[in-house]
Amino acid sequence: MQIKFNDKINQIIKNLALEAQRFGVKIYFVGGLVRDVLMGKTPLDIDILVEGNAIDFVKSLDFVEIKSIHKDFGTVKTEISGVNIDFASTRIEEYPKSGCLPHVTKIGCDIKDDLIRRDFTINAIAARILPSLDYEIIDIFNGCNDISKGVLKVLHKNSYIDDPTRILRGLDFKLRFNFNFSPEDEKLIQSYLKNPDREGLSKDRVILTLNKLFSSNERAMSAISEFSSCCYYKILFDEFLFNKENLENAIKLFDIKDIGRVCLKYILEAPPVEIKFKSRLEIYKYFKNFSDVDLCVYYLKTNDKNTLIYFNELKNVVLNIKGLDLLNLGFRQGKIIGDILDKVLEAKLIKSTNIVTFEDEINFVKETFKL
Ligand code: CTP
Repeated sequence: MQIKFNDKINQIIKNLALEAQRFGVKIYFVGGLVRDVLMGKTPLDIDILVEGNAIDFVKSLDFVEIKSIHKDFGTVKTEISGVNIDFASTRIEEYPKSGCLPHVTKIGCDIKDDLIRRDFTINAIAARILPSLDYEIIDIFNGCNDISKGVLKVLHKNSYIDDPTRILRGLDFKLRFNFNFSPEDEKLIQSYLKNPDREGLSKDRVILTLNKLFSSNERAMSAISEFSSCCYYKILFDEFLFNKENLENAIKLFDIKDIGRVCLKYILEAPPVEIKFKSRLEIYKYFKNFSDVDLCVYYLKTNDKNTLIYFNELKNVVLNIKGLDLLNLGFRQGKIIGDILDKVLEAKLIKSTNIVTFEDEINFVKETFKL
């Protein structure tokens, strides 16, 4: 395998391979980096797997700046000549409960035992780094073949039970690379979704995975459609009320660019308690700190047209006068100041009034309130 790094990175990798030889450990690229290179893409992050203890290896290198160490996982973040490189130790993991974060039972295991803890065959290919900058492929699960066929396959039948977020990761790879789950994987997923075990589920991991799934605005609509139609929401809850037409309509109405963010909030946020607004001022004050994404999600969850009134008519209304201007006019300090400001704002929020500028507001105050 060939990896097209620039000269600087090639030199760093070469040095690391020589040092690994001296230290007596093997080092590898693995996971997304190898998958992406095999698919003809340029790798973005550089992660190195050490068959042994990465912390000990990194500490033996004098040209490396250690940024942080995570002892429990045997991982180290570093910077080498201005390049960020993360190191991980080979490790064995166990899932005591479905969906929980795994427990590390051994650090510094054989490469094969590290590969087997991974999600898909396409992510379980290792490339041993040699000082010659040749890369020796270790593909015990036939991941290369699955890449060429565009197939997503887990490594063992309990994989989705151990970590149901792999279903969402699979959906992400499916949409990103135009891959498909193998028929056996489809069965394993449907079997898990019939009887999902949410007791030990790591919500953080689910949210992290959903964030990644919805990080692309182009794929967000397909992702949420499949999330609903394939019942992937059952990883999190029993029901998900999804209406694609409503979603597309709301995205248009609120002119949303960050579609992924709306989809994510649509999935994760509970419907808000509906409010009976009595005036435009109440609507204005309630939605004042809402972003357009928040407004859109509120509208989707409540169908409350007041969000549209706010978005189209009230959002850009601002009061030019301040309390100090009222004091300068001769009004006394106290509750009256806030009341007058509210009245001016209320008048501005009515479509038919022509109060726009600072002078309009001052004139309105003079005409309406006695000193
Ligand atoms: N992994 C896993 N199960 C998870 C998350 C990650 O087995 N729930 C493993 C996979 O082998 C994966 C590697 O950890 O390749 C790194 O994960 P991550 O950085 O999240 O994804 P990448 O596969 O590198 O893909 P990308 O960053 O391109 O999405």
